[in-house]
Amino acid sequence: MNKRITALPGDGIGPEIVAEAIKVLDRICKKYDHKFEYTYVDIGGCSIDKYGVPITDEGMEKCKNADSVLLGAVGGPKWDSCPASIRPEKALLAVRKELGLFANLRPTKLFPQLAGASPLKQEIVGNGIDLLIVRELTGGVYFGERKTEEVNGELVATDIMPYSESEIERIGRVGFETAMKRNRRLASVDKANVLDTSRLWRKVMHRLSEEYPEVEYSDILVDNTAMQLIKNPTQFDVLVTENMFGDILSDEASMLTGSIGMMPSASLSSGTLGMYEPIHGSAPDIAGKNLANPLGTILSAAMMLRYSFDMAKEADEIEAAVNKALDEGYRTGDIMGEGKKQVSCSEMGDIVANLIV
Ligand code: IPM
Ligand code: MG
Repeated sequence: MNKRITALPGDGIGPEIVAEAIKVLDRICKKYDHKFEYTYVDIGGCSIDKYGVPITDEGMEKCKNADSVLLGAVGGPKWDSCPASIRPEKALLAVRKELGLFANLRPTKLFPQLAGASPLKQEIVGNGIDLLIVRELTGGVYFGERKTEEVNGELVATDIMPYSESEIERIGRVGFETAMKRNRRLASVDKANVLDTSRLWRKVMHRLSEEYPEVEYSDILVDNTAMQLIKNPTQFDVLVTENMFGDILSDEASMLTGSIGMMPSASLSSGTLGMYEPIHGSAPDIAGKNLANPLGTILSAAMMLRYSFDMAKEADEIEAAVNKALDEGYRTGDIMGEGKKQVSCSEMGDIVANLIV
């Protein structure tokens, strides 16, 4: 099959980890006789430096016209003082919005080989963690109106958090549908004891739950979820939540897996176009040093094959290769453990690619 992939390496460690994911994809192409054609587009700080904007209009068009988008990471201290309108993150949010990527899947899976890398006790994570966070990605406070104005001699800032029934329903449906394909347990996370958006969220979710009687549905408040994720993470299968709660909970959940460097994500639209990226940031402190963990990006590339290209077998093969690399004791610095073999970012990419034969 021929596919066009727009690659957005971005800032910091972004270019290093994307290169490793493409190395692995190349190996898949060779084995399965696919042809992936890559178009590179600058995004984030590197684009601000070159063009004065975090993504150009042509760059955005190349994302829209692709079969899928592979992203590294954006941002870094160098651009922290940029005005809000051209911050690196702005481009990421614009791509999500313009491509209609409303459903963000963040699987949180602990590879048993890495149980020791989690800061949590063995008795909590030891039995394996395998949950999926479904985060709404194009609504809520990320996209509501915001302003800072002077009121009575001081600055007052406002961020509005809107959600419509239809926005809640379409992400809720993704939650139920993915739960149906997994263990049929869905927890809907909200703050219905305080927020109107959450009360509407709950109402819509309850309505939807009647269409999915096989799914064991529950409501859970976001603060309690934060606590339960640490106390008893194996109680969860699929969690569905709004944009900002999902942002925060997925970083928290990543520590169940040992390192945020392991976590992939897929941002899906109503069609087959999707964007795939690790959930971590640009890690400027280790950028350019060949130290980053490319596995989150490699696993994101596997999600790309699964969700955008319908290549389940190829996706399984990448995941199996990652598993094997860990089995063989290879570790980047973030997941290093006693008696393991520490490797660089590019060495890890080579090892995973070479396991695809
Ligand atoms: C994420 C990131 C982004 C977000 C930032 C970089 C805007 O934290 O993908 O989780 O908040 O969505
Ligand atoms: Mg985040």
